[in-house]
Amino acid sequence: MRIILLGPPGAGKGTQAATLCQHYGIPQISTGDMLRAAVKAGTPLGQEAKKVMDAGGLVSDDIIIGLVKERIAEPDCANGFLFDGFPRTIAQADALRNEGIRIDAVVEIAVDDEDIVARMAGRRCHPGSGRVYHLEHAPPKEPGKDDITGEPLVQRDDDREDTVRKRLAVYHEQTRPLVEYYSSWAREGGEDAPRYVTVDGRGDIDEVSRRILNAL
Ligand code: AP5
Ligand code: ZN
Repeated sequence: MRIILLGPPGAGKGTQAATLCQHYGIPQISTGDMLRAAVKAGTPLGQEAKKVMDAGGLVSDDIIIGLVKERIAEPDCANGFLFDGFPRTIAQADALRNEGIRIDAVVEIAVDDEDIVARMAGRRCHPGSGRVYHLEHAPPKEPGKDDITGEPLVQRDDDREDTVRKRLAVYHEQTRPLVEYYSSWAREGGEDAPRYVTVDGRGDIDEVSRRILNAL
């Protein structure tokens, strides 16, 4: 199974990826997590990416496409994968298509901007694994600590309200066109066309998971 999770920042892509990847036995490929790992490691790529990410912009298509191509060549991707936060521009989607990388399903998680701004303030993350929590909606077992490792949780640098609004604006301008890109491709059909499903991303986290699994 090869899945793309599409949706605005804070829609719950990372949250739902965990359930879907477990269900299908496929790895989660989050370009955001990969970039944050590079930032933490202090690599030249990480240093370059940090500036862009903290400003709420997008890292260049060439860098992202290179990272993803390398990642999906690894053995654990042989039976499929889930893209979380990729593709994010028409150029990235075209690159996938031109490489002949077939996608089975594109899942759009729909949430309004105002709900997102409210959600982001409560998000906490475990940097080592990318596990995501929420102070109210998905609290850790022990306050401030990751459930599995007990390590401290942090707030992402790009979760300040003004940066969230910038990321939403960038989403509407550069990523939202992919909704039309994939839904029209799915409608036209053809041998390599993916399925396209939209789910309401509001409400309980488990409820959203059920909606996605039912739709798939
Ligand atoms: P990335 O890490 O991909 O960030 P994003 O797309 O902005 O998405 P988020 O991770 O913020 O949100 P999410 O949808 O995963 O939501 P989550 O599950 O955490 O990218 C970061 C940056 O890297 C980009 O800005 C860009 O600079 C760069 N980048 C990455 N990929 C790139 C690419 N392909 N090209 C170029 N640049 C790229 O949930 C959010 C919160 O809500 C959590 O606290 C969660 O617990 C909570 N929550 C989840 N579901 C619910 C629910 N149903 N009800 C209530 N709360 C919920
Ligand atoms: Zn995420």
